[in-house]
Amino acid sequence: MNSPSPPLTGQARSLMQAALLPGDRAIDATCGMGRDTVMLARAVGPLGKVLAIDVQEIAVKATAAALAAENLADRVVAIRASHGDLDQLVPADWKGRVGAVTFNLGYLPGGDHGITTAWWETRRALMVAPGLLRPGGVLTVIAYTGHPGGAEEKEGVERELRLLDPEKWVLEVHQPEKGRRSPPWLYVVRRIGGARPCNDAPD
Ligand SMILES: C[S@@+](CC[C@H](N)C(=O)[O-])C[C@H]1O[C@@H](n2cnc3c(N)ncnc32)[C@H](O)[C@@H]1O
Repeated sequence: MNSPSPPLTGQARSLMQAALLPGDRAIDATCGMGRDTVMLARAVGPLGKVLAIDVQEIAVKATAAALAAENLADRVVAIRASHGDLDQLVPADWKGRVGAVTFNLGYLPGGDHGITTAWWETRRALMVAPGLLRPGGVLTVIAYTGHPGGAEEKEGVERELRLLDPEKWVLEVHQPEKGRRSPPWLYVVRRIGGARPCNDAPD
């Protein structure tokens, strides 16, 4: 089963909400139905900005509709693209100044289960995402193992994140919930350092 586990997605959202400051920048690298994007848009407040990305037009439209329903569309740019191109998609002045980046991998619940995130694209994104974080910023990745390619992607995520320099980033691995078949895993990367307003110079 690939539907998001409420405890784990809730945990990822709480961690991001705690890290985000008013006026922050945030990125939803797999916006799907827009639930995480709506949370990020609320957390950054009216002066913040969110970039939401999905490969499917249906997901970008669903995200736009979810934002419009909450009157949050003004602070979000939602685009149809692959997070594999994250480096080109993120404005140059966001690098080192992003409060939260989130990946909820797998397929769109209720959508085409044949369209899933793929390790070769996710890897390109994860090579860039930690470097986007400001001090105190957080990256969350939820990885699923129940669909074709999911186990390989989960192993790849873990391998890639374990390569991060421990002097700059701290990695937490949240074990899957017991009693579920093919449960999701949550990876959390925190950029070391205190939270700072996003208009500080990156370092
Ligand atoms: C589990 S859903 C995301 C759920 C979403 N965060 C929400 O709150 O509704 C995974 C999404 O990843 C998208 N996706 C697949 N490959 C992608 C890629 N290379 N870049 C960006 N999104 C991708 C799928 O289209 C799908 O909508």
